[in-house]
Amino acid sequence: MPTLPTAVTADTAAARMAELITEINHHNQLYYQQAAPVVSDREYDDLLRELMDLEDAWPALASPNSPTQRVGGAPIDSFRQIRHLVRMMSLDNTYSPEEVGTFWQRMVRLLGTEDIRTVIEPKVDGVAVSLCYENGRLKYAATRGDGATGDDITENVKTIRRLPLKLPAGAPALLEVRGEIFMPNSAFRQLNDEREAAGDVRFVNPRNATAGTLKQLDPRIAAKRPLNVIFHGLGRIEGRTPGSVSEFHDLLREMGLRNADRVWKASSLGEALAAIQELDIFRRTLDYETDGAVVKVDDYAQQQLLGVTSKAPRWAMAYKFAAERVETLLKSITVQVGRTGVLTPVAELEPVFVSGSTVSRATLHNDEEIQRKDIRVGDTVVIEKAGEIIPAVVEVVLEKRPADSQPFHFLNHIHGRCPSCGGEVVKEEGFVAWRCLGFSCPAQIATRLKHFAGRKMLDLEGVGEIVADKLVERGLVRTPLDLFELEEHTLATLNLGTEEKARVFGAKNAATLLAALERAKAMPLSRWLFAIGIPDVGDSAARELARLHRNFGEIARISDKEEERAVSPALKELRHLAKGKRKEDNPVLAPYQIAQEVGQVAAAETLDFLSQESGQAFLTKLAALGIDPQSDNYNPQPASSGKAKTGGGGRLAGTTWVITGTLSQPRETFADRIRQAGGKVSGSVSAKTSYLLAGDEAGSKLAKAQDLKVPVLDEAGFEALLAGPAESGPPDSAEGGRAEQMDLGL
Ligand code: IVH
Repeated sequence: MPTLPTAVTADTAAARMAELITEINHHNQLYYQQAAPVVSDREYDDLLRELMDLEDAWPALASPNSPTQRVGGAPIDSFRQIRHLVRMMSLDNTYSPEEVGTFWQRMVRLLGTEDIRTVIEPKVDGVAVSLCYENGRLKYAATRGDGATGDDITENVKTIRRLPLKLPAGAPALLEVRGEIFMPNSAFRQLNDEREAAGDVRFVNPRNATAGTLKQLDPRIAAKRPLNVIFHGLGRIEGRTPGSVSEFHDLLREMGLRNADRVWKASSLGEALAAIQELDIFRRTLDYETDGAVVKVDDYAQQQLLGVTSKAPRWAMAYKFAAERVETLLKSITVQVGRTGVLTPVAELEPVFVSGSTVSRATLHNDEEIQRKDIRVGDTVVIEKAGEIIPAVVEVVLEKRPADSQPFHFLNHIHGRCPSCGGEVVKEEGFVAWRCLGFSCPAQIATRLKHFAGRKMLDLEGVGEIVADKLVERGLVRTPLDLFELEEHTLATLNLGTEEKARVFGAKNAATLLAALERAKAMPLSRWLFAIGIPDVGDSAARELARLHRNFGEIARISDKEEERAVSPALKELRHLAKGKRKEDNPVLAPYQIAQEVGQVAAAETLDFLSQESGQAFLTKLAALGIDPQSDNYNPQPASSGKAKTGGGGRLAGTTWVITGTLSQPRETFADRIRQAGGKVSGSVSAKTSYLLAGDEAGSKLAKAQDLKVPVLDEAGFEALLAGPAESGPPDSAEGGRAEQMDLGL
């Protein structure tokens, strides 16, 4: 409950609310119209918080135009479609200055004059959006979609903090305005760090993070992500008549709608090319991604004369900057060990400034990649940063290779052992990466610990990257369960810094962590199963396991039974199956419900883990700590009996899904949506799979689904299916669900 003086009456509350709204809107205007904020973000947030508290206490008095409306309303089922008043076109683009010349000459020819004024703006690498204000009030916001119709993303767009929901006096009666929504680079990095700490996959680049956020049906998620918007185009306008792009920019500023951070003007091709060059320098100072310059004719009358082709206007052109590439020295190659023991070679570079930041490391992916590009220590390499925050080594500059250079041999380099623990490394069939098998490998322990503590796992606040590394480095933690034995004093005095420059964890953090550990003891079985980091057991497999078993004991007993029947070799066999090497189902495990419902691979890995020494030690220690997590979703009815909890009458009732590849959101988000719609999510593809939801870089599961003729849907197909009429059975062909595209600029 908000902390309000009890004497506040409805009248005083209403008065204060009105005052706050005026004040917040005033700060928004200062921020955008004059680019001169007079309060810090913190002070701004405090005002917003006070208003939210008042609205909580007096909901009847809350104004629909309150700036708090952007903190995220209730979730929706699907996106309504909105027809754009004016079609959203795209732009012709080029990487060559000559083609800018051709574009200019064509305009001179068509207009019959050399007197052409243009404006040049940064091309924001975001997600296109169209907003409609009616009588100064935001009516809706929509994605580009197919250009004619887009998704209604109003609720998500409203969460953009400084976007006016109401325009000031003098607003046009109707304003359809176009822009790009983006996530600032700094916010993107922070979001990714948080995601990693919580065990979620990182977004590849800010644009994907933005698109993924806008696709969320729950605006509260968008509200937590700091999106922003820059406007650059006009759809329809009534009541005001800007005669040029420049006048339109003035109008945007007057309305408090952010537009380009800098605009150039050019009246000749030479000036335009010079502006593009300047812009290429300027854009590196921006905290958001830009991938080009847009040259557009200033005068709307001239724009009209030039007209449009079927897809793009003849009065504008995008000049795209090639991803920035720079040369630098590859000083050495180090090897990182991930949670599952995967060894990733990393290029240690002579620090070099590229696309707005200094880069000193780049991933080399795996040793096959190194072989393919013949990358050697001592080479001068070309690195590229193309929107993606993680730079890549593109190629070697062979002319600069030292005469005595030696080919790089990954295994020799690591002396055939894990660089972290000295344990055995293997490259499993069908895999490109080497993996360390050492369960007690420090690098693995630290990453497992971070996973264990993630938000969706046991939610142990405080155990992030540094704390986990230090706990392992100082020998305080060897397995995640050791956390439960840490003394408050040990934690409070844990040095997170160096010997010379100590920085302790502190009493407050220690107390918070201990409280979180207490809470974790009572967390349900599914969370624990996910937290312990069994390969292939994600959130959804963990939930299914917990649906079939009451506690670890029950799962372990299956594991024992399997042992009695000497199926361990079969489990190994299953690992190969999992890697798509063999297609037939494993005869030993197949009859078990656990294999059928959790997926053969996840089931095999779980049983494997619990029957091995490390798993046994885990169970013993868990018992010794007095922790016995219980299932909170126990319901072992076979899903096919129709009585299972996951059955129900939702749109996806009776369907079984497998999710693979990189999607715009964590797989678990999709899994949740499938379950909410009555479907079931399984870990491996079989003849019983109704659909495979496949993202980018889908591998063996996609191949298997295609083999078994299981319909494959991409995200758009999935959305279409969820939004469409109740599911009556899989479509006839893999293309069935793909027809409808939800274009979020990806
Ligand atoms: S003007 C008729 N200006 O880039 C389209 N577009 O690749 C006129 N974009 O569709 C667009 N920054 O979504 C314009 N300063 C800018 C832009 C910009 C980004 C987007 C826009 C456009 C796409 C074309």
